[in-house]
Amino acid sequence: MKKKQTETLARIPRHIAVIMDGNGRWAKKRLLPRSAGHRAGMNRMIELAECIFSRGVECCTMYALSTENLSRPQEELDGLYSLFREYFRKNVETLKKKEIALKIIGDASLLPEDIRLLTQAGEEKTAGGKKGTLVLAIGYGGRQEILAAVNEAVKRGKQLTEAEFASLLDTQGLPDPDLLIRTGKEQRLSNFLLWQSAYTEFYFTETLFPDFSEKELDRALSDYAARERRFGKI
Ligand code: IPE
Ligand code: IPE
Ligand code: MG
Repeated sequence: MKKKQTETLARIPRHIAVIMDGNGRWAKKRLLPRSAGHRAGMNRMIELAECIFSRGVECCTMYALSTENLSRPQEELDGLYSLFREYFRKNVETLKKKEIALKIIGDASLLPEDIRLLTQAGEEKTAGGKKGTLVLAIGYGGRQEILAAVNEAVKRGKQLTEAEFASLLDTQGLPDPDLLIRTGKEQRLSNFLLWQSAYTEFYFTETLFPDFSEKELDRALSDYAARERRFGKI
């Protein structure tokens, strides 16, 4: 009995990454504006992060805004920025109490100045949180992240090892994602964690993000637990 429990625990991913897709379609189905879908998505993100940490996962990365999303209509972006502001104002204290460290990845220079300051303050306030790390990818693009690291390596003028290269990425110090969940039917990475997902297990679901429940998280976790991760070996 004891052995079985250990095995089950070992099957919990250390790091789950989530592509939170389908907010717009969720709203459309209900004849609501897209902004209502994003609000529902944000509420779901807060609940889901809590469920993920309660399962013993150390690190959870949520894809909230890609570099490509920045070419959406300004009205939609302004709505998203308002939600981010609200998120940081209301949730940083809770994360601190729960000892969850907040980390933001992406190109902060692409974001409005006040959001940049809120993200910095959130990271500083929650720094050292030992119960887990919540990573929010905002203004994030995998190719841009890799390119910035390559340019830095060129500047240093020497060849790098894999570990040295990884330390130049925004995700420096974090484990690679073991499981990536993408909601909203599409089966693609959309420029998310390109370097880091070399050996990640993927779970795709048609469920639109605001409908992604705790029950479905557990389905994804048991699906993951049954996978055989070979890393190229036999
Ligand atoms: C994901 O939902 C959230 C962001 C990309 C900001 P979408 O806004 O892409 O929703 P759909 O794909 O249009 O349904
Ligand atoms: C991916 O969703 C980005 C985020 C969830 C933040 P998109 O809706 O932007 O992806 P594409 O455009 O369908 O590839
Ligand atoms: Mg989408």
